[in-house]
Amino acid sequence: MKENAPAMTTATAIIDISTLVTNDPSLGEGPLGLIQDAAVVIDGDRVAWVGESSKAPATDSRVDAGGRALLPGFVDSHSHVVFAGDRTQEFNARMSGRPYSAGGIRTTVAATRAASDEDLSANVAHYVREALRQGTTTLEIKSGYGLTSQDEARSLEIAAAHTDEVTFLGAHVVPPEFADDPAAYVDLVTGPMLDICAPHARWIDVFCEEGAFDGDQARAVLTAGVRHGLTPRVHANQLTRGPGVQLAVELGAASADHCTHLSDADVDALAQGDTVATLLPGAEFSTRSPYPDARRLLDAGATVALSPDCNPGSSFTSSMAFCVALAVREMRMTPDEAVWAATAGGARALRRTDVGRISPGARADLTLLDAPSHVHLAYRPGVPLVAAVWRGGELI
Ligand code: NIG
Ligand code: FE
Repeated sequence: MKENAPAMTTATAIIDISTLVTNDPSLGEGPLGLIQDAAVVIDGDRVAWVGESSKAPATDSRVDAGGRALLPGFVDSHSHVVFAGDRTQEFNARMSGRPYSAGGIRTTVAATRAASDEDLSANVAHYVREALRQGTTTLEIKSGYGLTSQDEARSLEIAAAHTDEVTFLGAHVVPPEFADDPAAYVDLVTGPMLDICAPHARWIDVFCEEGAFDGDQARAVLTAGVRHGLTPRVHANQLTRGPGVQLAVELGAASADHCTHLSDADVDALAQGDTVATLLPGAEFSTRSPYPDARRLLDAGATVALSPDCNPGSSFTSSMAFCVALAVREMRMTPDEAVWAATAGGARALRRTDVGRISPGARADLTLLDAPSHVHLAYRPGVPLVAAVWRGGELI
């Protein structure tokens, strides 16, 4: 005899889901907590019930998923979408053999400073919407192309109109007017600029890299941010085997991002600490560089997240699905590991427990695929598989 859950009249049931990714191992099979022939009930902005379709409670409204897969909305923990201008020429030059360097950031800084508030806001809205249409329901947004107190503060305010996950990245690169005195720029970022910017942000980030900020400068930036109530995340070991990862773990950063050039000690530190290794394969794709070794990190026991790193320089994509495909094909992650990293992994990197899972109490952030399973994200690269997206219970 089948036992149905009690009726939920105000709620909506999504039924006939072929494969449901819950990311809750107590609800289904394996680390993804997979349930076949599933249903999900959403009530207001939350998930109210999850289980087999045949046991779904009665609800006022129903949506038929038509035998397709449902997964948590993607959680993108790393983006730089507050910018103006374009770097097509730089991309073209790279595809003819010129290497990527941190210096290209200054091109976007000039364009961003010159942009009006309206144009900058419209640009951010455009990329947030673009990501949402592709299944990304949580998006972290960084500043980092203003690099004056005013331009950083307005970048953060514009970002905050779209997300709670706002990151102050005044230490993205030393701007041209401080080229002769980088120490004075670090003093600005850790002093007056931080005073103005900290109230608008949750996180503090630094680009710890040759051509950007060294280990001592990065430490000064992050510890100043912590004193202002911000939590660190670090652009670490993207272009060289620098001190970023060790610093991130030592300071208890939520995430070390890029992790492309790692020593054994870096891998051990990530495996033992609480810092998530956020891999950004769009950057290696678009700079024609070797990919991070995700297998090595996973086998060592590190927590891995994926993000597109959407920015006009190193990775101009907002597609998490593309990153899942790259992670599987180029970084030796299994499809299950890559989908987990794009959802639950991103949630860990943002220290969020309400997103990145589909289980009772979670935010009703859901991505329906035009495919029978989540594996198709890697199996069908480049195909726009996202059929519908709910954010906070609302069908977009
Ligand atoms: O994550 N590495 C630093 N920041 C960006 C690139 C920014 C740019 O080139 O404009 C990144 O790759
Ligand atoms: Fe980045």
